[in-house]
Amino acid sequence: MTTDSPTRADAASLRVGGQELELPIVHGTDGDDAVDIGKLRGETGLITLDPGYGNTGACTSAITFLDGEDGILRYRGYPIEQLAAQSTFLEVAYLLIWGELPTREQLDRFVSEVTHHTLIREEMRHFFDSFPSDAHPMAVLASGTVGMSNFYPDSQNIFDPDAVEITINRLIAKLPTLAAWSFKKAIGQPYVYPRNDLGYSANLLHMMFAVPSEAYEVNPKVAEALDLLLILHADHEQNASTATVRMVGSTHANLYASISAGISALWGPLHGGANEAVIDTLERIVADGGSVQKWVDKAKDPNDTFRLAGFGHRIYRNFDPRAKIIKSAAERVLAATGADDDLFEVAQRLEDVALNDEYFISRKLYPNVDFYSGMIYRAIGFPKTMFTNCFAIGRLPGWIAQWKEMMESPETKIGRPRQVYIGPDTRAYVAIEQR
Ligand code: CMC
Repeated sequence: MTTDSPTRADAASLRVGGQELELPIVHGTDGDDAVDIGKLRGETGLITLDPGYGNTGACTSAITFLDGEDGILRYRGYPIEQLAAQSTFLEVAYLLIWGELPTREQLDRFVSEVTHHTLIREEMRHFFDSFPSDAHPMAVLASGTVGMSNFYPDSQNIFDPDAVEITINRLIAKLPTLAAWSFKKAIGQPYVYPRNDLGYSANLLHMMFAVPSEAYEVNPKVAEALDLLLILHADHEQNASTATVRMVGSTHANLYASISAGISALWGPLHGGANEAVIDTLERIVADGGSVQKWVDKAKDPNDTFRLAGFGHRIYRNFDPRAKIIKSAAERVLAATGADDDLFEVAQRLEDVALNDEYFISRKLYPNVDFYSGMIYRAIGFPKTMFTNCFAIGRLPGWIAQWKEMMESPETKIGRPRQVYIGPDTRAYVAIEQR
């Protein structure tokens, strides 16, 4: 394939046999351009093959900009560093979903809507009772999320803006309640109801850690740190879980079903489950005597399936900007909670060794968002199995914004990749006695 100028050309030409096909180039805001191959199969009979979608744009999007070479992340144009320093999670959620920073009045209305929908239907208590106490909170959260569509049949009206808005508000309001109750179930404590006088993150802490028998004071520094983590996780363009939400949504499944699928995709240790895997690794290092080199060597061994969780990213070939913010927040939270976590020291040594190792340098493997987020969750008191639930609460506005953008786009079609079949050619059925 050739283009006039590799950067800003308007078309690329593809030569296949004697045929030459002109393919338009779609320009992104910041130079991330794409060859539109929409006509390729119709004109040549060929499709593209791109396992893992490393070179495939599935949509155009106006939500999040990510430059992996320079470590840049912006939501709706606003740099993540500015949002992390000055905004709140609910304001960022509004920005992602509705496209602009809210006015004071819009924000107050949104916060009030979310605050007044935090209760889940009382019948859902039985839902939690039906799981074993060692159920993974991610499994409970994914099931509870799709389960909510049973209580809110208006969520089927995916083209009715009022029904969509109330579904969005309910989801943002209720996901923390579902997440906290999945934890309470696991530790055998009574479910704690939401409190409308608390902010979003403070309320999550309250539902997680309060017990009916004594007063629980939310530490405002801890609530602030949790809010920051949620902001940093709020969107990350077409990652595996977001692509899943879009794919399921493209079938016109309701929003609860689409988000539940996203939660399941997030669970994997190569994606959101990495925060739990990082702490597992650090604990194993400590239990093993504290030598980080051995684990770095294990991660480098091509015959070992072990990977250093919290390192590497499909897009970032530089520091993940979120990891930088999280590392300094982790230091502040450890100081605020008085938690003297020996894992933090091991994490810093591991980071130092990896960043100076030729294997990691040559592959441009840097700490990602999950490397230090687990340290904060741990210092707050979340058990490892709850880390990815917190990630899901943070990612929810991004999933919703991406679903909404897809549903409103005239370009949207059902997501349906093709394949190159490499199995056996036609053959005749053989009766079982003759096999
Ligand atoms: N430890 C050791 N080697 C690694 C790691 C790692 N964490 N990550 C990548 N590599 C190696 C990989 O083996 C490959 O080496 P080679 O070229 O010799 O075969 C090379 O680096 C390129 O890796 P890749 O698997 O082709 O890269 P990818 O873009 O397909 O995978 C990734 C990205 C995030 C799945 C991967 O880096 C990984 O498994 N990291 C650990 C899990 C993790 O931290 N996930 C969280 C990602 S950020 C938040 C999120 O998405 O939720």
